[in-house]
Amino acid sequence: MKIVIIGGTGLIGSKTVERLRNRGHEVIAASPNTGVNTITGEGLAEVLAGTDVVLDLANSPSFEDKAVLEFFETSGRNLLAAEKAAGVKHHVALSVVGTERLQESGYFRAKLVQEKLIKTSGIAYTIVHSTQFMEFLAGIAQSGTVGDTVHLSPAYVQPIVSDDVADAMADIALAAPVNGTVEIAGPERARLSDLVGRYLKAMKDPRTVQADPEAKYFGARLEETSLVSDSDPRLGHITFEQWFAKSAQPK
Ligand SMILES: NC(=O)c1ccc[n+]([C@@H]2O[C@H](COP(=O)([O-])OP(=O)(O)OC[C@H]3O[C@@H](n4cnc5c(N)ncnc54)[C@H](OP(=O)(O)O)[C@@H]3O)[C@@H](O)[C@H]2O)c1
Repeated sequence: MKIVIIGGTGLIGSKTVERLRNRGHEVIAASPNTGVNTITGEGLAEVLAGTDVVLDLANSPSFEDKAVLEFFETSGRNLLAAEKAAGVKHHVALSVVGTERLQESGYFRAKLVQEKLIKTSGIAYTIVHSTQFMEFLAGIAQSGTVGDTVHLSPAYVQPIVSDDVADAMADIALAAPVNGTVEIAGPERARLSDLVGRYLKAMKDPRTVQADPEAKYFGARLEETSLVSDSDPRLGHITFEQWFAKSAQPK
């Protein structure tokens, strides 16, 4: 099968490319760095010729409200139109658990626009809702940092390691489209403020975490369960402690 992975050079993209190649498929990692750009349209028609499945694992270079909306809207429109012209049979995209509940945030408004474009495209699809990537904890800590204190909501999270996400993306790419949303999550749940505190301690980071129910998550106020799945998600295998131990190793 010919599979094109948009954002195939990114965190999840590169790991998914490797898994699908190991399973014997013709897999193309498509991104601006490899000459395919979903914003300008460069290389899109050429790379999609004869393609069976497209995985959209791209992310916006900017998370600023206007920029991120423009990115997912323009990228989605261009990509889906090119897929339609090429006769692609399955479009798989990665979005975030709770996207519809987090509409106070510009990032999540943009992800919802991306999802709506897919649902109305007429192309068979599977949208994958993932919880936060464990690799994103550092970015979450950074987003709440003022001086030496990290202000974060005590809402629940159930983050998943990128290797577990890529395993799921590869399986879903090879399965039939569900024309709906499937959810994936990590094996353990914790409060965001507690988990980031444990993470910073494991990384020997001197910052301390202050739990604050009013602290926003990328612009959105969180309820206790805004970021966790309310369906029956596929679970990853890698635990917090396993991942902390690996992340604390010198690179
Ligand atoms: N972070 C989380 O916790 C989380 C949770 C759930 C879902 N997600 C979703 O997961 C997806 C992948 O995230 P990630 O962290 O793996 O992304 P990432 O590592 O930041 O990689 C982004 C990729 O997008 C590509 N890209 C940027 N602009 C492009 C363009 N104009 N045309 C084509 N490709 C373009 C980049 O290509 P270059 O290398 O060439 O620049 C890169 O391959 C995102 O859609 C995100 O919303 C994230």
